[in-house]
Amino acid sequence: MSCANFDSFDTDALTKGLETRAFGRVGLRYFPLTDSTNDQARKLAAENAPEGTIVVAETQTKGRGRLDRTWHSPPGAGLYFSIILRPKLDPFLIPTLTIMAGVAVAQAIERTTGIITQVKWPNDILIKERKAGGILAECHLGQQSAVVLGIGLNTHLQEKDFPPELQQKATSLAAHAGGNICRVTLLQSILKSLESWYLELARGTTAAVIGAFRERCPLIGLQARIRCGEEIRAGLVVDVDEQGCLLLQDASGHIRTILSGEVLAWGNGIF
Ligand code: BTN
Repeated sequence: MSCANFDSFDTDALTKGLETRAFGRVGLRYFPLTDSTNDQARKLAAENAPEGTIVVAETQTKGRGRLDRTWHSPPGAGLYFSIILRPKLDPFLIPTLTIMAGVAVAQAIERTTGIITQVKWPNDILIKERKAGGILAECHLGQQSAVVLGIGLNTHLQEKDFPPELQQKATSLAAHAGGNICRVTLLQSILKSLESWYLELARGTTAAVIGAFRERCPLIGLQARIRCGEEIRAGLVVDVDEQGCLLLQDASGHIRTILSGEVLAWGNGIF
């Protein structure tokens, strides 16, 4: 399909070109404007929407990222969507879903645009060390338990479109692509990768997805400073374990397993 710059989000084209069994096929809600696709997906999940239902928005007024940060979501410049999952996974594997989504998004970007991306543990999609996208996994327990996986990608934003504090840290796919970025094609490709990795996780095998993550994670083998709740931990990132936790070795040689945190800095000889 051909896409002009700032392609309008054509849901018919999306549906026609889907190469998935369920993801995006069983349910699709499109909003020209909404608060947050994660919030809309949570409501649909509570109303028993099937696994694989997606919510896409052209723009969000309350897009959010991890740690309650605002996710800047201007119209025509990003891909903002959420998918409802109902995993019958070991609860220990829930963090693995974020890792899985990072790998799926990175592969889809590479497949559709040729841009090489990295996935900074646990949820940042990077291009040349700048953030181009992120993943927000939210778990809702209750009668209709679900995980809502929200994905935001800066497709067409330009440096001046980002808030000043992000201008040196963020980037977009359009800034690195040779040609146009087609959000519909990109979303189709993400859904295809996501579904295939999800089926693999459902079979109880994490080794392949963790292996794919390792190859793309820029932290492994380098020192890092990580905020874990109230504490800051520093050390050498030795690996990611089979659940997607980061293994951080401190100065005394002790290896700590980090389930969740925010990487503040990484590199060689930075401490
Ligand atoms: C992060 O990097 O902290 C995660 C960003 C996730 C943003 C997406 S945009 C679609 C979905 N709806 C939201 O409100 N957030 C996610």
